[in-house]
Amino acid sequence: MKVLIATEKPFSAKAVEGIKNIVESAGHTFAALEKYGTQDKLLEAVADADALIVRSDKVTREVVDAAKNLKIVVRAGAGFDNLDLAALSERKIVAMNTPGQNSNAVAELAIGMMIYISRNQFNPGTGSELKGKTLGIQAYGNVGRLVAEHAKSFGMKIMAFDPFVPAEKMEAEGVTVAKDLDELYSCSNFISLHIPANEQTKGSIGYALLSKMPKGGCLVNTARKEVINEPELEKVLEEREDLKYITDIAPANIEVLKEKFGKRVFATPKKQGAETAEANLNAGLAAANQIVGFFKDGCTRFQVNKF
Ligand code: 3PG
Repeated sequence: MKVLIATEKPFSAKAVEGIKNIVESAGHTFAALEKYGTQDKLLEAVADADALIVRSDKVTREVVDAAKNLKIVVRAGAGFDNLDLAALSERKIVAMNTPGQNSNAVAELAIGMMIYISRNQFNPGTGSELKGKTLGIQAYGNVGRLVAEHAKSFGMKIMAFDPFVPAEKMEAEGVTVAKDLDELYSCSNFISLHIPANEQTKGSIGYALLSKMPKGGCLVNTARKEVINEPELEKVLEEREDLKYITDIAPANIEVLKEKFGKRVFATPKKQGAETAEANLNAGLAAANQIVGFFKDGCTRFQVNKF
């Protein structure tokens, strides 16, 4: 079987080497397409691939159509909003993610962002500390849980809202469970987003929630750009001169926001939540092992589509 890594944002050399070893040791052929820039190169490369490993690369219907031999796609990472699941399922192509493998990298970035914004983006002037503040975690999955764990060691109080996680589990980990999002936003000095981008969440974070935050509140987004209602974010930042927004995924109106709100807004130049040597290796090797297991034993653990 031919296993192709197609990554616009490449894995580290060590991760690529590790993936290659796993693939070749199992008797498969390895190929890599990195920094491909344009879609036509991707379409050409997938033509004879049996398996595909991607990061945030978009696996559109066009890509699926071009990949005539494709049997499995693994998104090396958590969010799989970049995969056209309908197109994959129609062809009975298995889609997987690698949950948890890059979570710590994202969680550490969320903490770093809170410190960076609280210390005036490392500019002169009086900042504030995390200690004693309340951190509201929206979605208590692999990343949210780690952010909570790290934040506790800074002396933060943790509140969380996640309708998919039993309240007893969160309480057992020292987390106050919010009854709804209104309560989470009303009580939290920081909100850290860990929701996926899907039909339910897209555009869901806007004026109604953000305007509930206490004075000096800050929204931290290491999740997805799409979950924010950007015009409403701009409106609330305009009305509330105390609110701040820090994100790992620049909004479309970032230049306008920076000009209007200066140091109250910050976006990383390129998404870097999972950009650590450790996360690259964990997610890349997990993806390769999942593909090898699928071809060997038909293992579909971590499959995210149904057909
Ligand atoms: C994820 O969903 O796992 C993260 O957003 C990482 O994305 P990346 O592989 O594009 O860095």
